[in-house]
Amino acid sequence: MSSGNNKNLSPETKVLHQGFDPNLSVGSIISPIYPNSTYVFPSAKAGARAFEIAFFPERATQGESAPLIYSRLNHPNAEILEDKLVQFEPGAGAAAVFCTGMSAIATSVLAVLALLPRGKKIVYSNPIYGGTDFFFKQSLAHFGHESITVETCNSEKTKKVLDSVGEQLGILFIETPANPTLAMSDIDGLASYAKKLAPDCTVMVDNTFMGIFQHPFKVSTAVDVIVYSATKFMSGHAHLLSGVALVRGERKELMTAIKTWRTTIGTIAAPNVCWELENAIKTYTIRMRGQAARAQRVAHFLSKHPKVALVRYPTLLTESDPDFHIYKKQCSGPGSIITVDLKNPTREHAFQFLDTVSRENIISLAVSLGGVESLVEHPATMTHSEVSEEDRKIAKITDATIRFSIGLENSDDLIRIIKDTLDSI
Ligand SMILES: Cc1ncc(COP(=O)(O)O)c(C=O)c1O
Repeated sequence: MSSGNNKNLSPETKVLHQGFDPNLSVGSIISPIYPNSTYVFPSAKAGARAFEIAFFPERATQGESAPLIYSRLNHPNAEILEDKLVQFEPGAGAAAVFCTGMSAIATSVLAVLALLPRGKKIVYSNPIYGGTDFFFKQSLAHFGHESITVETCNSEKTKKVLDSVGEQLGILFIETPANPTLAMSDIDGLASYAKKLAPDCTVMVDNTFMGIFQHPFKVSTAVDVIVYSATKFMSGHAHLLSGVALVRGERKELMTAIKTWRTTIGTIAAPNVCWELENAIKTYTIRMRGQAARAQRVAHFLSKHPKVALVRYPTLLTESDPDFHIYKKQCSGPGSIITVDLKNPTREHAFQFLDTVSRENIISLAVSLGGVESLVEHPATMTHSEVSEEDRKIAKITDATIRFSIGLENSDDLIRIIKDTLDSI
């Protein structure tokens, strides 16, 4: 289904044209939706052969592609989208789309664990998105997998933990910048260290927050898998749930395992969702750049307000901060998530801020992030309420912590609303 295959084109051009050829569908400039659940076989022999190739891809003859069978295994809208997604991630060999970010994470982790001998351990970032923490700490623990959480933003501490795990390391899972504090982890420093200790381990990076501004495969050759909640910046309009996993070019066999698990547990994104996301990612780059420009202005305003104790935002980092050097090394832009600590440390004050700032319905009080509408939330009682109190304390998520996701509103309007709120409470 491809057009735009010319290697000299830039990713922004390719994402508009790659994956779909209008000549194959009555000249339509955008792809059609194939909402059907099943596909007709031309003969019983062809049906049997389709199943054989789907479950034993190594038996396919050269150039023989897997025919479509049933939409839980694969469908054209997933294929078109996956072709486009590979364009965004330099170094990626293949992509898989999922019905949520969590299903992209869970399916990929299960696929990796299933390839490893039993008893391998997982080391993962703290802080991290609350759902990912729950999956590692609670859900996987039922099946005997030991998961250790550490502040991966502290390289020395993380290396000590990795030393103690040694060859037993199965997965190093890094989220950077971390949700919600934007703590930065040194992807290459940690990924390379992990691979030296345990060459068979898999390094995974959740790149949801930085998107187009950070390319983990480029940053480190030791990264194997990148995951995204496409519910966030990739789709950008708060209109769908979706997730993505990408594997490094050299690790295509890992994608076969991930897609087999996706088929088995049924976590592929539905055709209409893929179609929506395929069209939304055409403006992914331009949206992220526009949101980051607005967020920078808002963050710099917040940093000067006397009622704000701390603003966590990449372009406010100073050279004395270790995150400054990581940011310079691996990111090309700051993104549009801003996390602040209000000076008044009480939960009541934070709630008053949230209720007041969202009163005009321009900055809305809601979880999630990355959409064109600005959002604000209270991590300690909302997105990170399921994280243990001890881990929240270590991650410096307090009652005074507020997370903003800046959208595409005029930044003067956003600053005026935040200023009025801070002045009034
Ligand atoms: C960094 C990060 N990763 C993964 C997820 C999970 O994504 P989803 O809600 O699409 O399952 C989230 C959700 O907020 C997130 O912030």
